[in-house]
Amino acid sequence: MSENKIPYKIYLDENEMPKSWYNVRADMKNKPAPLLNPQTHKPMKAEELAGVFCDELIKQELDDTTAYFEIPEEIRDFYKMYRPSPLVRAYCLEKKLDTPAKIYYKFEGNNTSGSHKLNSAIAQAYYAKKQGLKGVTTETGAGQWGTALSMACSYFDLDCKVYMVKVSYEQKPFRREVMRTYGASVTPSPSMDTEVGKKILADFPGTGGSLGCAISEAVEVAVNKEGYRYVLGSVLNQVLLHQSVIGLEAKAALDKYGIKPDIIIGCAGGGSNLGGLISPFMGEKLRGEADYRIIAVEPASCPSFTRGKYAYDFCDTGMVCPLSKMYTLGSGFMPAPNHAGGLRYHGMSSTLSQLYDDGLMEAISVKQTEVFEAAEYFARIEGILPAPESSHAIKAAIDEAKKCKETGEEKTIVFGLTGTGYFDMVAYEKFHDNKMTDYIPSDEEIKKSLDKLPVIE
Ligand SMILES: Cc1ncc(COP(=O)(O)O)c(C=O)c1O
Repeated sequence: MSENKIPYKIYLDENEMPKSWYNVRADMKNKPAPLLNPQTHKPMKAEELAGVFCDELIKQELDDTTAYFEIPEEIRDFYKMYRPSPLVRAYCLEKKLDTPAKIYYKFEGNNTSGSHKLNSAIAQAYYAKKQGLKGVTTETGAGQWGTALSMACSYFDLDCKVYMVKVSYEQKPFRREVMRTYGASVTPSPSMDTEVGKKILADFPGTGGSLGCAISEAVEVAVNKEGYRYVLGSVLNQVLLHQSVIGLEAKAALDKYGIKPDIIIGCAGGGSNLGGLISPFMGEKLRGEADYRIIAVEPASCPSFTRGKYAYDFCDTGMVCPLSKMYTLGSGFMPAPNHAGGLRYHGMSSTLSQLYDDGLMEAISVKQTEVFEAAEYFARIEGILPAPESSHAIKAAIDEAKKCKETGEEKTIVFGLTGTGYFDMVAYEKFHDNKMTDYIPSDEEIKKSLDKLPVIE
């Protein structure tokens, strides 16, 4: 098909939407390392996870062999309200950059929560409801996950308790109010409501909190409250599985026009959007059917892939969660108050960590001010006001397109535009007023945190 036949937006219709999620672990020769019990250091069994997570989600979490999981009809019906999401050809950006590269982005910001997080939130709420639970607890950083989960819980009539990283709770009152609009209760973390919150506050008085702290609080409440379970918006295998809907749709849209990407780029916080976007492409790569360059982009202030260690670590600051083998900066690492709140997690998905360790994908880190430069540039050209997290991918995509200009190569670049930045205007304000800084942790700071990694015999 000739170039000019490719529309600005490639939509799929409803019946072209995926009917199953794809589990990339099924095609991995080296499977991600199992979660370990924090006391015994033995692989976690389903029964041990049952007090924390919903039963069906545990099955998905521990299943490294089933390639496809059918998406229940109730979830597909909800997806239809805001999916399929468009795959956009960034013609205007290409023109402005004067690059021979062809740039596409998969836009996940077209729902009220403003990000891809809803894809997993609705699935997790569905399984909680199906199990007959009263409600769920969770943490949220910048608030996108909490917002998505509030929407999903109100749809299935479940109670939703959100522990929101304190600095975001104070800086982002609008996200907090969206959550409350959908019926969630929102508590700033660390709080005095939980034992772990009290301990963290005693150890770090005045802390603005972190995702790791908020996770510990949400887990403590879930395991102690009858009829409640904990749900998580990233990092876990089950979340990557649900997010594979992004990649499956993107691939179906590209296939429609016979397009093969050369480079696939995504921002990486805990790894869920990136894992979801790349999974069908990575599957082809693992099966030897195709090759792609895959790039994870993380903030220089929280560089788990690029400066962390591949080791077993706690998923939370309170050290109550199972141990996961992942690229980590140490569960005690308190990232500087970067404005991409969703990328301030100390660890990374164990699936992506294994793929990265096997050399199947690359990772780079970028500085905050250059990310906002790219965000503003993109907003002015393509019209969408991007989330700071998503803008990490924009920055990398623009850089790759500029390289194509230098070399004259006509590469096809696909990146994940995970969400919109309407509630991040304080960050944009700091950028405009030249008050934004580029904090990069020192080697000593990272070493100090890594020195406290648990010792696994
Ligand atoms: C808009 C947006 N993009 C990306 C991320 C990063 O998360 P993940 O790496 O799980 O996709 C977040 C997390 O909050 C987010 O809100």
